Amino acid sequence: MLFDVITIFPEFFTSILEHGVLKRGSAGGQVEIRIHDLRDSTDDRHHTVDDRPFGGGPGMVFKPEPLFRAVETLKAAALVEPARVVLLTPQGRLLTQAVAEELSRENHVVLISARYEGVDERVAEHLATDEISIGNYVLAGGELAAAVVMEAVTRLLPGVLGNEESAGQDSFAEVGNAEAGGILDCPHYTRPADLRGWKVPEVLLSGNHEEIRRWRRRQALEKTWRKRPELLERASLSEEDREMFEEIKHAATEPRL
Ligand code: 6GU
Repeated sequence: MLFDVITIFPEFFTSILEHGVLKRGSAGGQVEIRIHDLRDSTDDRHHTVDDRPFGGGPGMVFKPEPLFRAVETLKAAALVEPARVVLLTPQGRLLTQAVAEELSRENHVVLISARYEGVDERVAEHLATDEISIGNYVLAGGELAAAVVMEAVTRLLPGVLGNEESAGQDSFAEVGNAEAGGILDCPHYTRPADLRGWKVPEVLLSGNHEEIRRWRRRQALEKTWRKRPELLERASLSEEDREMFEEIKHAATEPRL
């Protein structure tokens, strides 16, 4: 999978490409990430990327031509249209695990990071195929958002994560798939078994794998119910899950003796 990132802060990406999932994906050949300086697609002496807004008002607006030229240069080099041209913007649809999965099925994604103040609307209308936001808050620019999208997508590519932590195979998959009908993960513990008097639940030390499995599932259901009840509405629950959930609700409403 190829990501082409267009930004006015290319150095921003140096460190994130050298760590974790993005480094592993690049080293393993599952992903190639190319960072492009938008100023290289300007044609004036000052490499101007923004201009004053028509109609007045504060702030500057990203000029459309450098962005069109940057994407068209990539197109010309690849000889095909990139599958997606994603504009990172708070106006976009929210990034969810389902969106990350959708992008992970493409082989060429262009990410445009722009400043919050705004991008000439014709970029959204005639250049971008998608607009994506990473949450309901305002960032000064799309660079962090581009990094988030690349990380969420790259870890889904086959071979990027080891077998142990593989997306979709282990218990974490369900957290990630919360949007797609999953629930939150169960709590995890490691040594020491007693930290300042706060003990690890006995069952986890019991060696009884069936008991442990049931305890984890029950905890996952209870945690979801308490912290993210809205996820349970679209979760796909088994018969056993439903029984556990009834017990959980019952235990929570039962007056204590
Ligand atoms: Cl993609 N960009 C900016 N500037 N702010 C955001 C965002 C993107 N997603 C959430 N807030």
